[in-house]
Amino acid sequence: KTAVLAFSGGLDTSVCVPLLRDDEHYGYDEVVGVTVDVGQPEDDMEEAYDRAGILDEHRVIDASEEFVDELILPLIKANGSYEGYPMGTSVARPIIARHCLRVAEEVDADALAHGCTGKGNDQLRFEAVWRAGEFEIIAPMREMNLTRDWEIEYANEHGLDVEATKEEPWSVDSNIWSRSIEGGEMENPANEPPEEIFEWTASPGDAPEGGEVAEIEFEEGVPVALDGERMEGVELIETLNEIAGEHGVGRNDMMEDRVLGLKVREVYEHPAATTLLKAHADLESLVFTRSQLKFKSVVENEWSDLAYAGLVDEPLFDDLNAYVKSSQEAVNGTVRVKLHKGTARVVGRESDDALYSEDMVSFDTGGVTDDIDQTDAVGFAKYHGIQGRMRNAQNDR
Ligand code: ARG
Ligand code: SIN
Repeated sequence: KTAVLAFSGGLDTSVCVPLLRDDEHYGYDEVVGVTVDVGQPEDDMEEAYDRAGILDEHRVIDASEEFVDELILPLIKANGSYEGYPMGTSVARPIIARHCLRVAEEVDADALAHGCTGKGNDQLRFEAVWRAGEFEIIAPMREMNLTRDWEIEYANEHGLDVEATKEEPWSVDSNIWSRSIEGGEMENPANEPPEEIFEWTASPGDAPEGGEVAEIEFEEGVPVALDGERMEGVELIETLNEIAGEHGVGRNDMMEDRVLGLKVREVYEHPAATTLLKAHADLESLVFTRSQLKFKSVVENEWSDLAYAGLVDEPLFDDLNAYVKSSQEAVNGTVRVKLHKGTARVVGRESDDALYSEDMVSFDTGGVTDDIDQTDAVGFAKYHGIQGRMRNAQNDR
């Protein structure tokens, strides 16, 4: 019997391998590990390669471009965020899950396995995709109620080297868009996150004094150039992660509500995401009508809730993406974002599609154009607030 395992090479997924084989536990003959490259740093991929020896077969799939094209660009267009942070893990899971499912079909496996706990979101995201297939689903951490200490002991008994993992008692998940860090001493929300957990961002206090301006050009809502240089999505995000990260941009420390209802203390770094989402939303405010802006925030909330739950196969998700795509026709232009000691602040924007006319609004010129002058507003101003005045007059009778 064969099990296909979503394999990162971290403690949980490594411990899954002997557990899946162990006759006292799952008793599978073969374990095929699948590691999907969704743009996580080289070190993370190394971890998977280093531990791959324990697998019967290791498949590595490069899906960075697919991830960016299928989920990150739509996320940017939808200003996708959850409880105020740019979500990351949630949108990568479906891509990873799809590749695991495909491999399970290819090798004619009996089961699909993941190393997620029964307390979090990731189990739901994997299984929302996997249950489209006919495979048995195995989740050892959840089914056996495993603890970290038990895992480390079991790993040692089974000849897995987990020394490095022991020193860093937190759980990290990264992809090109974001890095999440949870667990360890951060489980107490009162504790300040230790500086050593951060890898993508400089400590804001140590970032360069003067800061730096990043100029991002968008075409139909897609970032296409950085500081005047045209780039594909993957390169643009990677480059901006470096630049904005040097300025300490994109750290988050928050209490987050998971799908199951449990709260979690979560720390994130996502320098490019913070910068791009600020720039994109700002550009929309320049080119959208007021009605478009108001309605799109409703769509964005629905989009984000589905994406957070990993429900990308829900038909509504396609419908929302169709609306979001059509809304982006006029989202063309350039935004300049000042990156400075942990902050990203839009300092300039321009677009040929702007719904803004300096001539019309200017105080300097009196705002007189061929179509419009200030005296036109007199009539409007007479009606403004009329219902309230009527009621108040009645109350005074
Ligand atoms: N709480 C975040 C989310 O649900 C991050 C989960 C990170 N996963 C992990 N294995 N550390 O998207
Ligand atoms: C886990 O529980 O395996 C990680 C965190 C999450 O899924 O939310």
